[in-house]
Amino acid sequence: MDIPVDYELLVRQIEALAQADNHWLPVLSNASACLLEAMDNINWAGFYLVDESARDQKTPELRLGPFQGKVACVRIPFGRGVCGTAAAEDKTQLVSDVHAFSGHIACDAASRSEVVVPLHCGGRVVGVLDIDSPLLDRFSAYDARGLESFVRALENCICWNAC
Ligand code: SME
Repeated sequence: MDIPVDYELLVRQIEALAQADNHWLPVLSNASACLLEAMDNINWAGFYLVDESARDQKTPELRLGPFQGKVACVRIPFGRGVCGTAAAEDKTQLVSDVHAFSGHIACDAASRSEVVVPLHCGGRVVGVLDIDSPLLDRFSAYDARGLESFVRALENCICWNAC
């Protein structure tokens, strides 16, 4: 049984880290590391970000961002896989069995369940947080809500214009 994650603590941790530098790159890099450290039984935690140069194409795409875990696929069109579905629908995806999710993209064959939360800036989706587990049904509604609050904290502390 996994120990429930203290998401309020995670929020305070990332807010404190972002005070040192609120550029998206260090914040999302440390966010991936915090999640991997805080959550039991996960094998990948990280971000896919909207390729802004292709934003207006018929099918915009996500591009691999900061993450912790094994090498992962680099580009995911909106609407494809769990990440592309979360981005296209602007809706958290809680997948208890990835083999039962039509179109799931298997970056690591060990992954069995997944949760993906959209990330926003100025009211539109700019990326997704993706977490994978080698266990079936690893993520609960409690995790989904906690991760949504973590993503809201990221949205509030990141300065997206800093380059
Ligand atoms: N499984 C994801 C792809 C990304 S990896 O899990 C890191 C998906 O179906 O979108």
